[in-house]
Amino acid sequence: MKVVHTIAELRDALRPFDSPALVATMGNLHAGHLALMKAAKPLGDVAVASIFVNRLQFAPHEDFDTYPRTLEADCEKLRGAGCDIVFAPSEREMYPEPQGFKVQPPAELADILEGHFRPGFFTGVCTVVMKLFQCVFSEAKGRRSALFGLKDYQQQLVVRRMVKQLALPIDIVSAATERAADGLALSSRNSYLSESERAEAVQLSLALRALARDALAAADGLERQLPALEQRAMQALAARGWQPDYLTVRRREDLQAPKAGDALVVLGAARLGNTRLIDNLEI
Ligand code: PAF
Repeated sequence: MKVVHTIAELRDALRPFDSPALVATMGNLHAGHLALMKAAKPLGDVAVASIFVNRLQFAPHEDFDTYPRTLEADCEKLRGAGCDIVFAPSEREMYPEPQGFKVQPPAELADILEGHFRPGFFTGVCTVVMKLFQCVFSEAKGRRSALFGLKDYQQQLVVRRMVKQLALPIDIVSAATERAADGLALSSRNSYLSESERAEAVQLSLALRALARDALAAADGLERQLPALEQRAMQALAARGWQPDYLTVRRREDLQAPKAGDALVVLGAARLGNTRLIDNLEI
């Protein structure tokens, strides 16, 4: 496995290959990232991981400065997962001058849910993902694949829409959320949780499951009952000491309010102490 830090080194390392498969990460890797890496392996002739904590997707009050940077440990894990090339650029390499050009996703998809509570987040994500795509795929001659976890449900939808609307010749592959034994969705930010918070954290996915059950029971009355069901789910979590941002049932394809017969996804984001967790469940 090669570890490269510049775009020029990355392109050199990729030159002998035709079909890169990319897993973009911000490091502090867990089993969810490694499952993506393993899924990337058969999709191309070279499996690439990027590790870059992208300042553009953090608001000033968020955890950019304290986000765990664990490059050596990450490389060990990636080696075990069959990664061929790790691209770990510095900030100066990715943003040698202030990044004035940005990729702005459509408001109806990107300014709701995560984008509502984290304004500018998806512009930061799309901008860096587009740049990573340029770095990894610009000289590829065969299939180009990029893998995204369903844990960040809205993110993979936004990236899919970007690829479609900008006609990028890249297959976006989504992979199931990896969970701890108790059901907590794996996330780099789980490492912020204290022992007692870690024991409590699974309640977010349990709350989503309960809301999913209520939504299914509402059947044809879903549109009418949904606001009350969502409010009850948020109140139940708040009563346990959480600060929920949203618990909601949406149409899978575009995260808009669902109508009878739509394929559904339940999504939630809530703060436990100082840690903001997100999770979702397709129903
Ligand atoms: O999901 C993440 O870790 C990040 O949002 C991504 C896709 C690597 C872009 O910085």
